[in-house]
Amino acid sequence: MSEQYTVDFSEETAAKFKKEPVTWRHNLNDSPLFSDEALVWLIDNHPRDYADFCTMNEGADDIGSWRGGDPGSHSGKELLQAVRSGRLWINLRRACNMHPKYEHILREMTDQLRAKMPGFKPTTMMGGVLISSPTAGVPFHIDRSDVMLWHIRGHKRVWVYPINETTLPEVEVEEILLHDHNDDVPYNVQMDEQAMVIDMKPGMVATWPLHAPHRVLNQGDLNVSISVEWSPFATIVQNGAQVTNGVLRRLFGMSPQIETQGTLHRLIWFAASRVLRKIKLVKVKSATQQGYLFDVDPDNDIGVTEHDKTTKSAA
Ligand SMILES: [Fe+2]
Repeated sequence: MSEQYTVDFSEETAAKFKKEPVTWRHNLNDSPLFSDEALVWLIDNHPRDYADFCTMNEGADDIGSWRGGDPGSHSGKELLQAVRSGRLWINLRRACNMHPKYEHILREMTDQLRAKMPGFKPTTMMGGVLISSPTAGVPFHIDRSDVMLWHIRGHKRVWVYPINETTLPEVEVEEILLHDHNDDVPYNVQMDEQAMVIDMKPGMVATWPLHAPHRVLNQGDLNVSISVEWSPFATIVQNGAQVTNGVLRRLFGMSPQIETQGTLHRLIWFAASRVLRKIKLVKVKSATQQGYLFDVDPDNDIGVTEHDKTTKSAA
């Protein structure tokens, strides 16, 4: 089949791209690459070091409940069954970069998006395959890179929030970029009044502005999507500038605002962030390595058997 990544991608979509949440259509949902059989092959053949097996609370609104598990020696077929009947979220990180059968996806996606937007020039493009349970979700969080969610099977609801003082103050974005803690930020239900709600169906893609907080809840069936993390040079520069802003705010009590900083200012601050790292004024801390907190268990109701976290490590 010929895969189409920009069905109904209009000039208006291009104008809003990265500036506000937008959706358009693709036809990856017709591809045999995401059938049950293909997913079992992918799970069996994907390096386990590049696979995350996670669970979360019912409703996926408590970031504290988000934890990683050990798939053990279960086969792809058993793990897919555990996802179907349990509350699990599998991310086969970089699957579209690593498996020759899937590599054309990112290449053709980039070409077709560039045909619509000549300025679409990612410096990196990583595609992970997400396979998640009917009741799974991802709590409120932000991503460090730009993200496109290419939805292929099932139904999920995505809430995308604006970045402001009541949802995500700039100082929190800086905290995340400085890696002082994980990507997760405090959430309260009142924020939903400001959210754009997107109901994802097979064949839809959604994207939103860099660092926009979002959360996801599946709507009762097995979900399969590709999560593309990509970074144009402008995003790398902005993240560097916000690292410098974070240092100025924390060490010198200044109150920089990224929105008021133009291209040249950001470039200089980006260069400064490299220097700050070199002289070790910025020590980027790696995210906490939690270790495995459960075993994936296809025979259990939610696909999870808790275990003593001191007995195993994800390292
Ligand atoms: Fe995300």
